[in-house]
Amino acid sequence: MWLFLITWTMVVLFSIKIFNKLSTGRCYADTVMSGKVVVVTGASGGIGFETALELARRGAKLIIACRDHQKGERAVRRIIRRTNNKRVRFIHLDLTSLASVRKFVAQLEASEAKLDVLINNAGAICTTRERTEDGILKDLQINYLGPFLLTVLLVPMLKRAAPSRVVVVSSSWHKFGTVEDINSGRHGYIQSYANSKLCNVIFSKELARRLEGTGVDVYSLNPGQVNTSLYRSSTVLEKLRSLLLYAFFKTPEEGAQTSVYLATSYEVDQMSGKYFEDCQEARASYKADDEESAAKLWSLSEELVKLTPDEINKSFGDVS
Ligand SMILES: NC(=O)c1ccc[n+]([C@@H]2O[C@H](COP(=O)([O-])OP(=O)(O)OC[C@H]3O[C@@H](n4cnc5c(N)ncnc54)[C@H](OP(=O)(O)O)[C@@H]3O)[C@@H](O)[C@H]2O)c1
Ligand SMILES: *[C@@H]1O[C@H](CO)[C@@H](O)[C@H](O)[C@H]1NC(C)=O
Repeated sequence: MWLFLITWTMVVLFSIKIFNKLSTGRCYADTVMSGKVVVVTGASGGIGFETALELARRGAKLIIACRDHQKGERAVRRIIRRTNNKRVRFIHLDLTSLASVRKFVAQLEASEAKLDVLINNAGAICTTRERTEDGILKDLQINYLGPFLLTVLLVPMLKRAAPSRVVVVSSSWHKFGTVEDINSGRHGYIQSYANSKLCNVIFSKELARRLEGTGVDVYSLNPGQVNTSLYRSSTVLEKLRSLLLYAFFKTPEEGAQTSVYLATSYEVDQMSGKYFEDCQEARASYKADDEESAAKLWSLSEELVKLTPDEINKSFGDVS
C-alpha cells in the first residue's frame, strides 16, 4: 500500500516537473549587446547574477549593483572568468539607504555618458517590521521605493541612450497586494512583500505613461518560483520551498530568462508598460490598471524618497 502511494506520488511529481520544464519560457532573441551599458541591481546571486551573466555573454558593458562589496566583487570575477567580457564592474548600492541610491547615481553619471538598460532586480523578504534610516519599512524600500528613486534619477541617462529600457522584477504575489497604508507597518511580512511587488507593477505602468514618446520603454515581470535564497529570512517559507522545490521551482538560469528577454528582444518594442511571464505578455492584477491610484502612489513615493522639484524637472521636464 505505502509503496504504491509513494510510487504514484513520485510519478505525479515527476510529471509536474516535466510539464513545468516544458512550459518555462526561454529567451530566443539573439540580440548582441556590445556597446550597451547595462545596470543590474542585486546581481550578486540568484536571478540577478544569471541575468548579468547572460548579458555579459552578449557583450554588454555591465555594472553590478548590490550592497555587499565582497559578494559584488566575487560576482564580477566569476562573470569575467566565464564570459571573457572584461567590461564588467561593481558599484556599491544599498537600497535601504536613499543616500546610497543618490551616491550610486552620482558615481554612474561620473563614469558613463548614457544608460541603455536598467534592471531593477534586487529584492528581499523582511520578516521584521524594521524601518530604514529614511523612516521607511525596510522591505518596501528595498523592493519599491529605493528602485523608484534610482529609476527616476537615472531617467536623464536613459533618455540619452534612447531607445533604452527599464525592467522591473515583480512577482505573481503582486496579485495579493494592496496600496493602502503601505508604509504603516500594520501588514504582516508576506502581505508587505506582496504590496511592494504590486507597487512595482503600478510604477512600471505609470512610468511608461510618463515616458511615452521619449524612447524609454518600461516593463515588469514575474520570474516564476525560482530556487534562490530569497526566502532565507523566513523559516515557514523556507520549509515550504524545500517541500515544493523539486517539482515546482525553476533554476536561477531559467528564472532569468524573462529579464534577459525584456532587456534584449525586439519583439517588445511597442509594448511599454506591459507585464510579462515566461517571455510572454501576461495579465497583471486589475489593481494595476487603476490610473488614479497609480498617480496617488506616485506622489506618495516622491514624498517618501524626498525627490526635489529640481530632480523631478531634470527627469520629466520639457527641457532635457
Ligand atoms: N525567487 C523567487 O521565487 C522569486 C519569485 C518572484 C519574484 N522574485 C523576485 O526576483 C528578484 C530577485 O530575487 P532572487 O530570487 O534572485 O533573490 P536573492 O537570491 O535573495 O537575490 C536578491 C538580490 O538582491 C540584493 N539585495 C538585497 N537587499 C538589498 C539591498 N538592501 N540593497 C541592494 N541589493 C540588495 C541581494 O544582494 P546582497 O547579496 O548584497 O544581499 C541579492 O543580490 C527579487 O526582486 C524577488 O522579489 C523572486
Ligand atoms: C537549489 O539550489 C541549491 C543551492 O544553489 C542547489 O544545491 C540545489 O541542487 C537546487 N535544487 C534544485 C532542485 O534545483
